[in-house]
Amino acid sequence: MRKKIVAGNWKMNTLPAEGVELAKGVVAGRGEVCSCVNFIVCPPFTHLSEVAAALKGSDIELGAQNCAAEAKGAYTGEVAASMIAALGCKYVILGHSERRQYYGETSETLNKKMAQAYENSLTPIYCVGENLAEREAEKHFDVVKAQIEEVVYNLTAEQFKNLVIAYEPVWAIGTGKTATADQAQEIHAYIRKVLAAKFGAAAEECPILYGGSCKPSNAAEIFAKQDVDGGLIGGAALKAEDFLAIGKGFAK
Ligand code: PGA
Repeated sequence: MRKKIVAGNWKMNTLPAEGVELAKGVVAGRGEVCSCVNFIVCPPFTHLSEVAAALKGSDIELGAQNCAAEAKGAYTGEVAASMIAALGCKYVILGHSERRQYYGETSETLNKKMAQAYENSLTPIYCVGENLAEREAEKHFDVVKAQIEEVVYNLTAEQFKNLVIAYEPVWAIGTGKTATADQAQEIHAYIRKVLAAKFGAAAEECPILYGGSCKPSNAAEIFAKQDVDGGLIGGAALKAEDFLAIGKGFAK
């Protein structure tokens, strides 16, 4: 049985006090959702510590949205994986399309970041996904295959056991356009096949999340698909009620 995960990517939203309120809201309503669902919240670096305190005593886990490619040293403005781990993070989102697109993250950088994550016992939530032009040119399978081969294929079998993949079509992020449940299933199954080609049966255990305008009204249909193991939620993660309602989307 694969883990069911609902992870909130808060992006560059909330001030510390707002983030703490949001986290408290998630903790308060968590009991209404099946304990079989693993909730993760990923606030900005600045309030990881305060949000960690707000989550204390709950089963909601903490993640960061990024980490540095290097361990430490003269890298002004960067935040090391060891630093976020020290604040209580268990997860780190890596390779989000916004990082690839706006900050020029390449597979080369991401290989280093993945290594830093594992060195600090963090589970990467590694994001893949095609943009609109690639989807329209029917290149989406090739794009995600390359994003997996160039980075995930470099992991050891042991590291692969601690990996979450998030498939996020760039055209669906923050646009209100969602992939249909069938489109999600099609590419999730394909991703699992690509993972299995390298890691064999362990690919069956790897959670693959869907992300891109996922909300309470569409989560249930998408999560019902066999190879969809949850969601990476942006906008809808900024309201505790909506974030929790997405978790209720697991009928299985
Ligand atoms: P969205 O973002 O839910 O606001 O579309 C998802 C993401 O980018 O992780």
